[in-house]
Amino acid sequence: MTTLTLNINNKPYQFENLDPRTTILDLCRHHLHITGPKKGCDHGQCGACTILINGQRINSCLTLAVMHEGDEITTIEGIGLPEILSELQQAFLDNDAFQCGYCTPGQICSATALIEEVKQNWPSYVTEDLSQPNALLAHEISERMSGNICRCSAYPNIIKAITQVLEKQINTNLSNDTVNSLSNNTDTSYQTLSSSDKDVTGIWSPPPSQGQLKAQPAKIDVNSIQNASTAKTPATQLKANDITGVNS
Ligand code: FES
Ligand code: FES
Repeated sequence: MTTLTLNINNKPYQFENLDPRTTILDLCRHHLHITGPKKGCDHGQCGACTILINGQRINSCLTLAVMHEGDEITTIEGIGLPEILSELQQAFLDNDAFQCGYCTPGQICSATALIEEVKQNWPSYVTEDLSQPNALLAHEISERMSGNICRCSAYPNIIKAITQVLEKQINTNLSNDTVNSLSNNTDTSYQTLSSSDKDVTGIWSPPPSQGQLKAQPAKIDVNSIQNASTAKTPATQLKANDITGVNS
């Protein structure tokens, strides 16, 4: 049993005799009744439990509370209130970016951190020019949000909502250099997402980047597959004496 101090949504908490196996997700939901972070899979695969720890997004189902002594935790409850929505929350409303809403707290927490990552020029897996990630491209946003699953498939409108806020924040907050580099991007093979973008589909899977399109497909030797499938694998033979159990 452990003692732990945390700041959750700008409020200090001290926990005595906390079971060290408690995740931040369970601490929020079961100990504090902060139910914004959702338990979708409890295995780090859906993103419904996404929260911010010291400003960075994290799956709260995969991190133990005792690992975060003194840390700043922000859940969706700390991002906005019904009467004072954050820009992203408003954009989700404006763009109809949810249906059941179960994944939405995680989506908004994740997108909130995404915007900060973009401001700091962090590249993503699909960024081709590491010095100038073009954060407004649909495939960039898709890749950066790929840890958050939506069973209702609200993906196209989630991308629109995030784009709306990114556009605004990039234009108002980024340094002139970064703004210039974004606006000078003449790569017409990509389309900057707009509300009329028809290429956005119902899945996160980002469209392939130019690099991926140019990449040669992996060569597979069909003969080796046939040989492998026709090769006889000797079955493991067990004798009665090998089997231990009730009779041994
Ligand atoms: S509940 Fe944490 S990733 Fe699904
Ligand atoms: S809005 Fe229903 S799971 Fe995303």
